[in-house]
Amino acid sequence: KFGQGNLLELLKTHLPAATWQLLTTAACQAQARGWHLYLVGGAVRDLWLRHSQGAKKHQNITFQDIDLVVDGFHTKADVGAGVELAQALQGDYPGARLSVHGEFQTAALLWHKDPQLDSLWVDIATARTEFYPYPAANPEVEASSIRQDLYRRDFTINALSIRLTNPSPGKLLDFFGGMNDLHNQQVRVLHANSFIEDPTRIYRAVRFVVRLGFDLEPQTETYIRYAIASGVYERWRLTEHPTPALTTRLKAELSIILKAPYWKGALTLLADLDALKCLHPELKLTEQLWWQVRCLSRWLRWLDPERQLEHWLLRLGILLGALPPQERIKIATGLQLPKTMIDGLANLETMETAIAKSLGCQQCPGPSVIYQTLKGYDRANLFLVAARGHKVLRKQIWFYFSQLCQVSPFLTGHDLKALGYKPGPQFKQILTDLLNACLDGQLGDRQQEEAWLNAHYPLPKKV
Ligand code: CTP
Repeated sequence: KFGQGNLLELLKTHLPAATWQLLTTAACQAQARGWHLYLVGGAVRDLWLRHSQGAKKHQNITFQDIDLVVDGFHTKADVGAGVELAQALQGDYPGARLSVHGEFQTAALLWHKDPQLDSLWVDIATARTEFYPYPAANPEVEASSIRQDLYRRDFTINALSIRLTNPSPGKLLDFFGGMNDLHNQQVRVLHANSFIEDPTRIYRAVRFVVRLGFDLEPQTETYIRYAIASGVYERWRLTEHPTPALTTRLKAELSIILKAPYWKGALTLLADLDALKCLHPELKLTEQLWWQVRCLSRWLRWLDPERQLEHWLLRLGILLGALPPQERIKIATGLQLPKTMIDGLANLETMETAIAKSLGCQQCPGPSVIYQTLKGYDRANLFLVAARGHKVLRKQIWFYFSQLCQVSPFLTGHDLKALGYKPGPQFKQILTDLLNACLDGQLGDRQQEEAWLNAHYPLPKKV
């Protein structure tokens, strides 16, 4: 049974072989210095999921994000243990990139498309610990510092740990009932103030609930609702005093949620918890907005299967589009969204009015009018306009994307030259008129295009 025996065998089975080897090396390095090393966080949770629910159900678990904690050192000088261990490991793995965050005594080793380790991110932290008064302090004292480290974390299912070093390597440390919550499929917060201290955890709770198909433990839900009702978001709201660290983390959470296949469930749960207020106090997932987000996603699935656009950003864009322009710009700027997105959000209404004016003033605008009206706009912004627009406009934009954008005449500028036309400003006009004639279905092949040229732009007769 998981947790009752030595978990190293299980790690060896489920981790990619090279990652397992890396953990073994890290454990040897830590042990040689008299330290303990623990695997913590998501990897332990995911190991349980793979083991108990099967690898098939959890194919997306790839163990590419590993968190380690070093503990058990005895002098103040060892406070940089995590960093020292990371440096030692880099000695063994020169292909790794090392990045050190001195303030928190943490280091990260990164591999990018490594032949063995693929893309792997290993965070190594130093347990925030009391200093032990004497060397080889008993395991209970040592355990108390890893316990503290785990207690700072978000949910019980993320506060499990496996010891990788002596004594008892492979031992599961479960101080807060994480295993029980995994069995009962509950996302339970570790302490009452958790969401007040770090509101991104509200988004994380939702993410784990929907991704794992777990329930939000009732008391945890109460804490979330309390945090939101107490206006926790006001403190860190992007529009008021953007705090870079929080903003970055919120953006990261939003992007994970809106990119994931489970985004619909996550968004409705966030709305149900009133958690969209964290983005803006007025933001609500009304029926109309919910319809727009789904419409946008359907369009993206059909019209951008290669994912040339950033679908998650557009989902966020349509949500922000429900706010007054000034507010949405403040949030988009605070979140450091790309400039084209910020500009698009700022000009949504202007775009909508201009398009409606061009297309709406004609009884039934022909294909070339639709094409010429829409071609100047950024593709991503047109998706937003379509999702927000009325039925007729949506049909026109759909027609534009699905058919008109694919039309191109057989004749090119080179052909015109070869036929005897002189390059110059008129060229552009000829090509535009030619394209319009193709769009309006007047021309079907090269011969017809040449005949059309002769009729509309006859070459001066040679004397
Ligand atoms: N953590 C936390 N509070 C946060 C973010 C992270 O307590 N706001 C802790 C959690 O214990 C988490 C660990 O830091 O397990 C690592 O964070 P992260 O890699 O973001 O999460 P994972 O649990 O590994 O989840 P995922 O599988 O989505 O990467």
